[in-house]
Amino acid sequence: MGDDAATIEDYYHEGRTFAPSAEFVASAVVNDPAIYEQAEADFEGFWADQARSLVSWEEPFHTTLEWDLPYAKWFVGGKLNVSYNCLDRHVEAGLGDRVAYYFEGEPGDTQTITYSELLSEVSRFANALKRLGVNSGDRVCIYMPMIPRTVIAMLACARIGAVHSVIFGGFSPDSIADRINDAAAVVVITADGGYRRGVPLMLKPNVDEALKSTNTVRSVVVADRCGGNVDMQSGRDHWWDELVSAESDDCPPVFVDSEHLLFLLYTSGTTASPKGIMHTTGGYLTQVAWTYRAVFDLRAESDVYWCAADVGWVTGHSYIVYGPLCNGATSVIYEGTPDTPREQDRSGDPGTWAKDRLWSIIERYGVTQLYTAPTAIRTFMKWGETWPDAHDLSSLRLLGTVGEPINPEAWMWYHEHIGAQRCPIVDTWWQTETGGQMLTPLPGITVTKPGSVCAALPGIGVELVDDDGNVVTEGGGYLTLTTPWPGMLRGIWGDPQRYEDTYWSRYEGRYFAGDGAKIDSDGYLWILGRTDDVMNVSGHRISTSEVESALVDHEAVVEAAVVGAIDETTGQAIVGYVILRGDVESSDALRGEIRAHVSKKLGAIARPRVVIVVPDLPKTRSGKIMRRLLRDVVEGRELGDTTTLADEDVVDEIRDRAESDDSDDE
Ligand code: PRX
Repeated sequence: MGDDAATIEDYYHEGRTFAPSAEFVASAVVNDPAIYEQAEADFEGFWADQARSLVSWEEPFHTTLEWDLPYAKWFVGGKLNVSYNCLDRHVEAGLGDRVAYYFEGEPGDTQTITYSELLSEVSRFANALKRLGVNSGDRVCIYMPMIPRTVIAMLACARIGAVHSVIFGGFSPDSIADRINDAAAVVVITADGGYRRGVPLMLKPNVDEALKSTNTVRSVVVADRCGGNVDMQSGRDHWWDELVSAESDDCPPVFVDSEHLLFLLYTSGTTASPKGIMHTTGGYLTQVAWTYRAVFDLRAESDVYWCAADVGWVTGHSYIVYGPLCNGATSVIYEGTPDTPREQDRSGDPGTWAKDRLWSIIERYGVTQLYTAPTAIRTFMKWGETWPDAHDLSSLRLLGTVGEPINPEAWMWYHEHIGAQRCPIVDTWWQTETGGQMLTPLPGITVTKPGSVCAALPGIGVELVDDDGNVVTEGGGYLTLTTPWPGMLRGIWGDPQRYEDTYWSRYEGRYFAGDGAKIDSDGYLWILGRTDDVMNVSGHRISTSEVESALVDHEAVVEAAVVGAIDETTGQAIVGYVILRGDVESSDALRGEIRAHVSKKLGAIARPRVVIVVPDLPKTRSGKIMRRLLRDVVEGRELGDTTTLADEDVVDEIRDRAESDDSDDE
């Protein structure tokens, strides 16, 4: 247990370890631990080797890195094209018939797309963009469902040197308008709609609404996904099919500088407007290509990989599109939710949703690697193991997670019920800003601990520091990056000052990631969540994620969110919101028992003052718990901005429960 001076205290100790099997190690893509020392001795040389071996350059780079803190240029002098790397060179190598994507729509429609088909579709669409007047460097917004045309649109931009800005399909007209205006986008690519939970979710009307408050967009391209029943503005709006029908499938790639802007991706800040995170070409492609291959242990000729994220997030950019395609991999894309279709379609029981779509997809396509988020894994736990148990998941050989800390219980469930205790789990820490994975096990080398991201990848420099910037070698601290990395953001679009202030000002010479973390006595790294999620209880800084893990460790609890509420005596008091397993009833006795369980796991200091049982938790559309709203509820405030909330009703239900459960606790 940490002492009072510790930056973030450390209460949870994990003793379980999991080594990869000898068989896995023997055939792993990366299995020699010497790679860590080699990369540490010369991180620039390490990345230069990856850039030369995994990426094709039209002109080779002459300088690996120019570093003028906080501005990096990687692979200077090199020229390349990302879509050439992702498509043409595989076709040239005779792999044109290899499947790039197996697509499955939510209604059950399927499409198989080979590398040569993808190349011709991308080329035709790139020619169409040129006809619409899109030039190298122009910004193009993409607001689409999870369908292959989304990937085609991204690659077509890359082919002609245009910059894409993908806007997640769940965002509102206001959010679209903000992003179009900030980037001064000239074209928007969208679809009439996409399927979600059995119904078409319309997208084009949101674009129409957004365009009322923008003035830079000249053209809108609309893919027909749901029958095409939307308004089209003559002169401005074009159907995708009509547009490309006249185009040739030959479109020579535009070779650009290594530092040419590849895409913008907007991420919300704690305040004010979203930040347009800038990613460039050569460094980004190198990092996603190498990490994809090494971390997912890719065997491109036989694997079927599936990242169940949305392409609207960075995970989709790096590990659905660019990492897999650059390596010539075969992936699955699924359009909808994991609990569609309705079960009545199969068993006649109306009103409930089947909850095994994911496991059915894995079985039918023979998926070998699955990459998903802890929030999804906890949902699957809540639904129970009968759903995965009904399917043959024996094709799986590796599992990954990303997006938030995975609590050890969820890790163990994933390991046992999905991985059959056979598949290494890679818990990958990274950010929109880092472009690619940074901290994660390497599956053929690392002995993992449930809940730990384990270590930095070779070529990545990480250190924890305390409030004063002193390096912490054991215990809790702030996660900082000490050396530039190829996929790093190059800035915030239009706002260099905000870039310097947000990431580089807190600790001199270091990138501060905004996350708390700890190093345990074995040197393993644990992410403790955003530092604004750290509570201060009687002067002890306690991480929300450790208390959440302890809550979920209780057998009655399937999901938990913890916040610190203002408390006159202790500064902050711990409030735990919990979702109970389906068959368990809430009672005073049970809530008391759950609080005692946290005491037992972590110590009395971490015992929640109150445990509130809720039916659901407020989450962003990317699945992150909105602790700010939970704090507002418990401190009795008016709710702040709820526009990014996936389901607004959840908050009202929570408020009702908070009032009743709070009154009967101490
Ligand atoms: O707090 C960390 C959490 O997600 C943040 C980055 O969010 P975003 O830019 O949306 O990118 C998510 C996908 C890469 C981080 O600052 N996070 C991400 N991965 C993990 C994580 N927290 C714990 N463990 C992870 N594996």
